[in-house]
Amino acid sequence: MNEHELTVVVLAAGGGTRMKSKTVKVLHPIAGRTMIGHVLAAVRTLEPHRVVAVIGHQREQVATHVRELVPDVVLAVQEVLDGTGGAVRVAMETSGTSRGTVVVATGDTPLLEGESLRKFVADHRAAEQAVSILSGIVADPFGYGRILRNDEGDVEGIVEEKDATPQQREIAEISSGILAFDAEFLVGALPRLTNDNAKGEYYLTDTVRIAREDGLTVGAFPIDDVAQTEGANDRVQLAEMGRELNRRIVTRWMRDGVTVMDPATTWIDADVKLAEDVTILPGTQLLGATVVAEDAVIGPDTTLKDCEVGAGARVVRAHAELSVIGDGAEVGPYARLRPGTILGTRSKIGTFVETKNAHLGDGAKVPHLSYVGDAEIGEQANIGAGTIFANYDGIAKHRTKVGRWFRGGSNNTFVAPVELGDGSSTGGGTVVRRNVPPGALAVSGGPQRNLPGWVPSKRAGTPQAEAAEEAHRGPGRASDDQGGGH
Ligand code: UD1
Ligand code: MG
Repeated sequence: MNEHELTVVVLAAGGGTRMKSKTVKVLHPIAGRTMIGHVLAAVRTLEPHRVVAVIGHQREQVATHVRELVPDVVLAVQEVLDGTGGAVRVAMETSGTSRGTVVVATGDTPLLEGESLRKFVADHRAAEQAVSILSGIVADPFGYGRILRNDEGDVEGIVEEKDATPQQREIAEISSGILAFDAEFLVGALPRLTNDNAKGEYYLTDTVRIAREDGLTVGAFPIDDVAQTEGANDRVQLAEMGRELNRRIVTRWMRDGVTVMDPATTWIDADVKLAEDVTILPGTQLLGATVVAEDAVIGPDTTLKDCEVGAGARVVRAHAELSVIGDGAEVGPYARLRPGTILGTRSKIGTFVETKNAHLGDGAKVPHLSYVGDAEIGEQANIGAGTIFANYDGIAKHRTKVGRWFRGGSNNTFVAPVELGDGSSTGGGTVVRRNVPPGALAVSGGPQRNLPGWVPSKRAGTPQAEAAEEAHRGPGRASDDQGGGH
């Protein structure tokens, strides 16, 4: 395996001052991952023998995050940021790498794809080069290292922006900063780097010149899709790259059979999974680890974060987090599902309903204006409009259990902990403080009393009293206690 041993070094020691942030650059989020998270996902597809991350600025933050994503990562601390050459030297020393292939990438290129890295490593190995450069032809090469080629087109070196002559600055072929090395060559070349250049840094890119001096072969492989190697240095670029990354993700899902009515207002994070024949309507954000099954229709104006949506479900103008929406379930319009909501098959959460830690059985419905917190609702139960599950007594949260086929009146309050049995019912306006046995009807509050003539006597002279008097006087008008009508 040794000659195929692959080490990937990810440079992430810089702070990214242009972000103007207390969060280090590589930890800024884009499409549901950090920037370095995207790079590490691309790196993972190479199945490297070893991943080394070079950290410096805010090293604890970066180390914790990188370890979560790549548990066996080697963390190399660069104490003094003396250049990319210095960074790779620390990486090689800390990891003890001396054989095989070493790929160096940077932690701030969120569009990078594993397939591009794979092709680059394959090209590098096939060409048996000491150093290979992933290069790109760009319209505006400002700021990049330029690839120097001789008359035969052979690569001679890389010159950095600040060290380049005006003619060299005209060169449109740039180094992406992603390089591949023969490890033995790299270990020998790193101590030979000097910092007598415009930035006073040890440039990793100078290894190209050293290889040429040693008579070794070097080469550059241009990538067609240069955006993959672009870094985001400030928040304007971060937003631009975010839009581009989203465009790519949405396009991929459309090619895989998802209908997206308005790609421009649809945002899909990198780790979201969608089945064929999902439909996404305008203004929808599918975030985190959200998974949507076939024939579900999501939107318009819906945000789902870390949610699971079943086949054929319909989610309209909803905001949901860490929730499971069953097959054929209906949510919204205007619903808020908080963590721990689990909706059974063909269940329903209607308009202006908020849920939290709530389980709805198959076919159960909460159609209107309700708060459902810490609840277990049996299959086919129907919760009346304006029902509040009062789960909090001011000190602790309690659960409410509603049985199968329950039928609730409007404007109820269920004071937890309380149980409403299978097949029970409540009248309108009931405050349920004690358990309701199966099959019972619970009512609370006194019976209705009508005090005839109360308004004309207590509110005499008001328009309300006049209306009441007119109702009594008027020919053919039914009085209020006769019921019915014409
Ligand atoms: C570097 C390359 C340049 C290439 C460009 C692509 C060198 C000398 N130049 O230039 O050829 O076109 O990237 O974007 O390599 N870093 C460390 N430790 C350090 C210095 C840098 O970890 O001591 C990290 C930075 O956090 C960053 C990456 O290395 O992620 C690149 O460093 P940066 O200073 O941005 O180099 P560039 O000038 O962009
Ligand atoms: Mg840079």
